[in-house]
Amino acid sequence: MKNFNLNALIRPNVLEMAPYSSARDEFEGEANIFLDANENSIGSSTIEGDYNRYPDPRQTPLRNELAKIKGIHPDQIFFGNGSDEAIDLIFRAFCIPKVDRVLILPPTYGMYKVQANINETPVDEILLNSDYSLPVDRIKNEIKPNTKIIFICSPNNPTGNLMAKADVFELLNWFNGIVVVDEAYIDFAPQGSSFAQEINNYPNLMVMQTFSKAWGLAGLRLGMAYAQKQMIDILCKIKYPYNVNLLTQEKAMEAVLNPAKKDEMVAELLSQRTWLKQQLATIKTVSKIYPTDANFFLVKIDNATEIYKTLIDKGIVVRNRSNVALCDSSLRITVGTEEENKKLIEELLLITK
Ligand SMILES: Cc1ncc(COP(=O)(O)O)c(C=O)c1O
Repeated sequence: MKNFNLNALIRPNVLEMAPYSSARDEFEGEANIFLDANENSIGSSTIEGDYNRYPDPRQTPLRNELAKIKGIHPDQIFFGNGSDEAIDLIFRAFCIPKVDRVLILPPTYGMYKVQANINETPVDEILLNSDYSLPVDRIKNEIKPNTKIIFICSPNNPTGNLMAKADVFELLNWFNGIVVVDEAYIDFAPQGSSFAQEINNYPNLMVMQTFSKAWGLAGLRLGMAYAQKQMIDILCKIKYPYNVNLLTQEKAMEAVLNPAKKDEMVAELLSQRTWLKQQLATIKTVSKIYPTDANFFLVKIDNATEIYKTLIDKGIVVRNRSNVALCDSSLRITVGTEEENKKLIEELLLITK
């Protein structure tokens, strides 16, 4: 990170282009007659609600409120249509197709590779260590020139573990490209696990979080990237002008103004996680329940694929990860409600008896 130069990482076309300037970008101040954006001035075709106006392209009130909760500056927050949008945009901002590379660390979240493929970005893969920790030495030895981004998922999907902070710091200090730390599940991990506060210390760090998990708002599609302003400005420059819709902004604001509800749900899910772990341990064919800091378990079980299919016949869907590197015969099981977890265990006991 010693020689970090953000402008040198940005694709030249992105650096040089002028962004689209929307009607709502250009107007600032007080007005009550809006004839600037070719909206329907009368109203909306819904039974109730007014959606005829374009949403705030910068999501300013929401950014201000979230910044307070996260202890960072509003200018350090990017909102996307899910964090999947932020993942896509960093390829478009930084990776010249067919030239620049990214490094991913399987087993991990599948969208990094999918977005790389869509953006014609070559992907290098270095497997995590067998205990799912970061292979820091192998990364340092095997990384290729032109690697612009390293994706670290912590807690990692599908394994559930947090990455050791010291390992992430080592990579942040060593790498002159961008280190993305995807913290989609961070609210289920112990306090102090997040790297969000570190963005002020590391200009090469981008932290991603989402409203899809702990906040219970997957249907709204709202994800965040946190980084120093210069990096956030680049994502904002290339995003769709109105990428976060009005309903999403309103409902997310409702949630952010009352974070206690999220905290209560997290507490309940964590207590269910403990219960589920105890119960899974009683199933004879379960050989390993991997430690988790997320709202799911990776579970090694005999005949995982058969169990997966039988559970589907009973109306229970889990994720079969058996074909994923280092996840031999393993299922990824989300912590459900008390009732759902009981039903799952009941069925697993019957199937494996
Ligand atoms: C690690 C990780 N990152 C990101 C996402 C996607 O989040 P979003 O719903 O905000 O696009 C997921 C969803 O499963 C995930 O597991």
